[in-house]
Amino acid sequence: MVSPGYPLEMAYFTRALAAVGGTVIGVGDQPPSALPGEARNTLAHYEHVSLSDEGAVRGALQGLARHVSIDRVECLWEPYMILAAQLRESFGVPGMTVEQTVPFRDKERMKQAIDAAGIRTPWHVSATTVAAVWEAAEQVGYPLIVKPIAGAGSADTYRVDSAQELWEVLPLLRHVPEVSVEEFVDGEEFTYDTVCADGSILFDNIMWYRPRPLQMKMHEWISPASIVLRDLTVPDLGGGRQMGAEVLDALGFRTGFTHMEWYRKSDGEAVFGEIGGRPPGARAVDLMNYATDGDVFVAWAEAVVHGKLSQPLERRYNAGGVFKRAQGVGQITHIEGLDKLLAEYGEHVMVVDLLPVGAPRRDWRAVLISDGMIIVRHPELQPVIEMTERFAAELHMYAS
Ligand SMILES: Nc1ncnc2c1ncn2[C@@H]1O[C@H](COP(=O)(O)OP(=O)(O)OP(=O)(O)O)[C@@H](O)[C@H]1O
Ligand SMILES: [Mg+2]
Repeated sequence: MVSPGYPLEMAYFTRALAAVGGTVIGVGDQPPSALPGEARNTLAHYEHVSLSDEGAVRGALQGLARHVSIDRVECLWEPYMILAAQLRESFGVPGMTVEQTVPFRDKERMKQAIDAAGIRTPWHVSATTVAAVWEAAEQVGYPLIVKPIAGAGSADTYRVDSAQELWEVLPLLRHVPEVSVEEFVDGEEFTYDTVCADGSILFDNIMWYRPRPLQMKMHEWISPASIVLRDLTVPDLGGGRQMGAEVLDALGFRTGFTHMEWYRKSDGEAVFGEIGGRPPGARAVDLMNYATDGDVFVAWAEAVVHGKLSQPLERRYNAGGVFKRAQGVGQITHIEGLDKLLAEYGEHVMVVDLLPVGAPRRDWRAVLISDGMIIVRHPELQPVIEMTERFAAELHMYAS
């Protein structure tokens, strides 16, 4: 397991691998003392080595490989997916090769592969110079989106409504070597997430972003919400779900976690956004657990180790997460509105995980969780929409 304890969620996946019978060797940047307990207590062995140095990682594993057979190389953290593929190739381990992994990392290669399969992507052109961006804008038309081909967290992503706005945005992109200029797709945004084994989907999941991620990133006053949906059979989701399966086929994905984003236009058309060969972040796997009353960390581990789930995951609830951003800068000074909301909705509130008074605020641009999170659930969707909206509007955190 590459990076078995960082980010924190990786430790739950590591623990799950061991829980289902895997013997897990960790390879990571963190000093052993910094590993979260869930990982430290379940790893059979840990190699502390710089993950940015492929040679060093290979060297460390070469020594080990003389004593044990390495059956799988797993990595669920985006920056080291290619490293994991290189290690598979070096050690002759089955699983995704570098060639197969690149389309999950490079958004241009991703869209080429998806386009070739006849799946609907936003109209797009890549560009490495200012002149090429102008030319692409001519072809794509306004409104358009300019974004890095290797972006994350909506960084350096801009909606541009006119040539005048493109003039203003271009200088902000000077440090980005290659951008994608895309048709702006208007609609709602969803994920399509899966756990797969040997090319079959063992579990799938759709999460609804409210509002769209670019809006969340632009306005600090927004309390973003993500809702894991219980019923995936409703007609509105059919197009995205089918597209999700086609995308996995087109990219030849076999075993592990995937996280796709897609748009649903007001006319119902599903449009591909992007895909990662890893789980979604920001505690989305927790939301899936609250929606199923199951353990999706373990489901992934079973898929990897045994190729099947020991029991099916049932979708019982809609589970909504609301992320809070405090008003003001500095340290949290007080929290308002929580008692009233808990009195009203308490039985449906699964998690209240807000920074305590006195804690320094987190960087809301860098971490979606921001200054804290609430998780609610209900079998019906409407109450979850209502509760997430109320927690967004009536729960206030203050800092100074
Ligand atoms: N073609 C498009 N049409 C409309 N909106 C778009 C388009 N491309 C990107 N966006 C908006 O920008 C957001 C970020 O884009 P994208 O998901 O491609 O990049 P990212 O930086 O990897 O995102 P993240 O890491 O936040 O998932 C999208 O969720 C969407 O809200
Ligand atoms: Mg995205």
